[in-house]
Amino acid sequence: MIKDKVVVITGASSGIGEATARLLASQGARVVLGARREDKLKAIAETIRQAGGQAVYQELDVTKQSDNDAIVKLAKDSFGRVDVIFLNAGLMPNSPLSALRTDEWHRMVDVNVKGVLNGVAAVLPEFIAQKSGHVVATSSVAGLKAYPGGAVYGGTKWFVRAFMEMLRMESAMEGTHIRTATIYPAAINTELLETISDKASREQMQGTYDTYGISPDRIASVVAFAIDQPEDTTVNEFTIGPANQAW
Ligand SMILES: NC(=O)c1ccc[n+]([C@@H]2O[C@H](COP(=O)([O-])OP(=O)(O)OC[C@H]3O[C@@H](n4cnc5c(N)ncnc54)[C@H](OP(=O)(O)O)[C@@H]3O)[C@@H](O)[C@H]2O)c1
Repeated sequence: MIKDKVVVITGASSGIGEATARLLASQGARVVLGARREDKLKAIAETIRQAGGQAVYQELDVTKQSDNDAIVKLAKDSFGRVDVIFLNAGLMPNSPLSALRTDEWHRMVDVNVKGVLNGVAAVLPEFIAQKSGHVVATSSVAGLKAYPGGAVYGGTKWFVRAFMEMLRMESAMEGTHIRTATIYPAAINTELLETISDKASREQMQGTYDTYGISPDRIASVVAFAIDQPEDTTVNEFTIGPANQAW
């Protein structure tokens, strides 16, 4: 059931997070939007409310534990509980390792890895106490297959895969009924390529996305499917991409 679920979404200001927020709200979820661009969140929340949905938002930098704790508190203060967290914030400044863009390597680890850890740390005490909860995370096909230029990005997304599987297993073993779903998108048309500063990598990726890219609505509908499953059922891993993209 999606109706009335309280869903925290990180990276909700554009792309996959925005599309998922809009879809879940249209299906009756109460959505809590987080990202750094507050103006974008405000506009998205307003249009959700105008359409009859329920949405609140707060500026969130996933690299800060205190921000993650604060958005979980906002969810509880606004709607009384948290049912789902969608750990979706991420960036993909791809480049060859030989370019030594070490600042970007560390930034990807901070956002794509530590951001996921911070979000889980913020919500886990609630989920353990209520013996229910759903953690959904955006990995990538780059977390399933390595490709040149994506060494660090892919590494962060492999981390998400391994981490989510252990969260699922340990929750089952501990009887806390925490469900997990990991999403592996291929080429989805969002703002993600804007995070690539290496010119050759950007051009190469842009060509792929111009040829194959599909709407983030496709990912939103899969996230909704995962959340909609009965409470005793985990549907765990989804690879979603353009039908004509060979990855
Ligand atoms: N598009 C694809 O083809 C594709 C494929 C596989 C996986 N993914 C993954 O999908 C996820 C969503 O990306 P997208 O494609 O929808 O791209 P996007 O449009 O660029 O969205 C990325 C989101 O992450 C947020 N974000 C970035 N840094 C953040 C931080 N430090 N704290 C909080 N929020 C932060 C951005 O918001 P602010 O800038 O406002 O903070 C934005 O809302 C990412 O994890 C990405 O790796 C995308």
